[in-house]
Amino acid sequence: MIPELGHQPDQDEEWIIVKRGNRQEKIRLHDYDDIYKIPGLYEQVFCQRLKCNSHRVVCDLLEEARGDMTDCRALDFGAGNGMVGEEIAKRGGDLVVGVDILSEAKEATERDRTGIYDKYYVMDLDDPDDKDIEKLKQYDFNTLISVAALGFDDIPPKAFLNAFNLIQNDGWIAFNIKDRFLSNNDDTGYKDIIAGICEDNLAILRKKRYCHRLSLSGKELNYIAIIGRKIKNVGLDELL
Ligand SMILES: C[S@@+](CC[C@H](N)C(=O)[O-])C[C@H]1O[C@@H](n2cnc3c(N)ncnc32)[C@H](O)[C@@H]1O
Repeated sequence: MIPELGHQPDQDEEWIIVKRGNRQEKIRLHDYDDIYKIPGLYEQVFCQRLKCNSHRVVCDLLEEARGDMTDCRALDFGAGNGMVGEEIAKRGGDLVVGVDILSEAKEATERDRTGIYDKYYVMDLDDPDDKDIEKLKQYDFNTLISVAALGFDDIPPKAFLNAFNLIQNDGWIAFNIKDRFLSNNDDTGYKDIIAGICEDNLAILRKKRYCHRLSLSGKELNYIAIIGRKIKNVGLDELL
C-alpha cells in the first residue's frame, strides 16, 4: 500500500521499525502489547525521543490541587507499564492499584517496576463482571488517575465512567485527554461525557493544555489535563 501524498498519520497510525538481531519488525506506537514486551522500549520511544512527560504533569497537578498525597488511595486506570504508579508512590501515596486491559502491561510492570503497585489487575471495565467490581470496591479509592489512556482505541467512555463510580464522593479525579476529543471534532464520545459529568458529578479545579508528546514528525500533540473532585456517581443510562 502506498500512502497518499502529504498524508500526516494521526498519532495512533505512527509506527517504528525495531531491529532485533537480524530481524526487523514494524511496530505501531499504539500497539502497546508489542511495545511492552521489549524492556525499556516504551520509555525510550515515548519519553526520551518524543518527550512525553504526562505521567509527571498530571501527578504534579494532582499533588498541587490536593496539597499533599499522603492519604491518596489511587486507582490508576490504563496503568500500562507503571510510570504513573511510580510517580504516585514517589510522592508518598498510601496505596495504588493498577488496572489495564493488557496482560502484557501487567507483566511489564512486574518486570520493570516491581513492587510499585499494591495490586495490578488485568480487567475490562467496559464490561466488568460483578466480581471485578467487588474486588476493586474493597480498596475504597479516593482518587482516580488515568494518563494517556482515553480515546483512540483505548479506554472507552463507559469504562471510564465505571471507574469514576468506584471513587468515593469528594474523591479526586485526575486525567488527561487529547484536546481534539474535547472539541467539536471529537469522534470518541468524550466531549459530551465530560460536559455531562461537569454538570452534576465533577467539580473541576485545574485544567491545563500542554504538549503531551511530539509526533514522529516533530509536531506538538496537545492534551488537556483535568483535576477535579467527584460530587456523586454517574448514572450510565443518563449519559451514554
Ligand atoms: C499510552 S498507554 C499509557 C500508560 C500509562 N498510563 C502511562 O501514562 O504511561 C495507554 C494504556 O491504556 C491501556 N488501555 C487501553 N484500553 C484500555 C481499557 N479498555 N481498559 C484499561 N486499559 C486500557 C493500554 O493497554 C495502555 O497500557
